[in-house]
Amino acid sequence: MTAVFDTFYADDTLVDHLTKSIQYSIQSGGKRIRPLFLLETLQAFGIPISEAHFKVAAAVELIHTSSLIHDDLPAMDNDDFRRGQLTNHKVYGEAQAILAGDALLLDPYLLLSSADLNASVIVALVAELAYASGSHGMVAGQVLDMDGEQHTLTVDQLKKIHALKTGRMLTFPFVAAGIIAEQDDEIVALLRQLGEAVGQAFQIRDDILDVTATFEEIGKTPGKDVVADKSTYVKLLGLDGAKQALTEYLDIASQMLTEIEHKTQLQGEPILKQIERLRID
Ligand code: IPE
Ligand code: IPE
Ligand code: MG
Ligand code: MG
Ligand code: MG
Repeated sequence: MTAVFDTFYADDTLVDHLTKSIQYSIQSGGKRIRPLFLLETLQAFGIPISEAHFKVAAAVELIHTSSLIHDDLPAMDNDDFRRGQLTNHKVYGEAQAILAGDALLLDPYLLLSSADLNASVIVALVAELAYASGSHGMVAGQVLDMDGEQHTLTVDQLKKIHALKTGRMLTFPFVAAGIIAEQDDEIVALLRQLGEAVGQAFQIRDDILDVTATFEEIGKTPGKDVVADKSTYVKLLGLDGAKQALTEYLDIASQMLTEIEHKTQLQGEPILKQIERLRID
């Protein structure tokens, strides 16, 4: 996937300081869990990984990285560190970081349109990625997240925020794999439910780690959610309540995976391992 990024941004007619700031954020050691879920799900369906699949994986990672650059801006979460290094705007300035984030929201579609896949598959992937990212997904969730600061939300309101800001981007890999593997609507719907459960779990886990982890472990300043008075499961239900909710969502994800295994040829062991790694005792 790194090779996909390098090729895509190698063109020396591009604006050098824009691509530098983009490379700064995309090559900075993110966990790349969204690409991993996509590639592992494809393999679990018995599909050999090709360059086209790396392009789809890269596309979702670029949008995710865009969301982080914007999320860290002073007008949003105002963070100085990300992935163990200074945030994009701290190095390149706010205007440049906003524009790098803009480019990273749009470049994925150029990348996707060049993937060697059937045109109908590409159209379905474009639709799914745009649905996950924009006013139907991540951006809408980020708006609600900012609105939720200094308010006490209900668990249902929080679930909606998580589903949009984090869940959509984590659902894409599973649904995209189903589309590429030409699974029928029932299976794609189950893959979507699996991604939704993983998404809820992932944000609850991130909120727990904000309270319990060190800078070295998460590569970003801990304790930020309390300072901003963010609405999180930890704020609403306490640390133990949040941990219990995490366990419940991971159990749902694991059950969904088993159900998909029963209904298809999917061999989900590596996906299950990734899901199990998200557990916190
Ligand atoms: C952080 O995502 C933002 C959330 C959705 C919680 P990741 O934890 O996947 O961040 P990176 O990509 O590994 O840095
Ligand atoms: C971010 O949630 C979700 C995104 C869509 C980027 P957070 O604001 O909790 O993510 P971190 O903790 O800054 O990575
Ligand atoms: Mg945020
Ligand atoms: Mg943040
Ligand atoms: Mg967080």
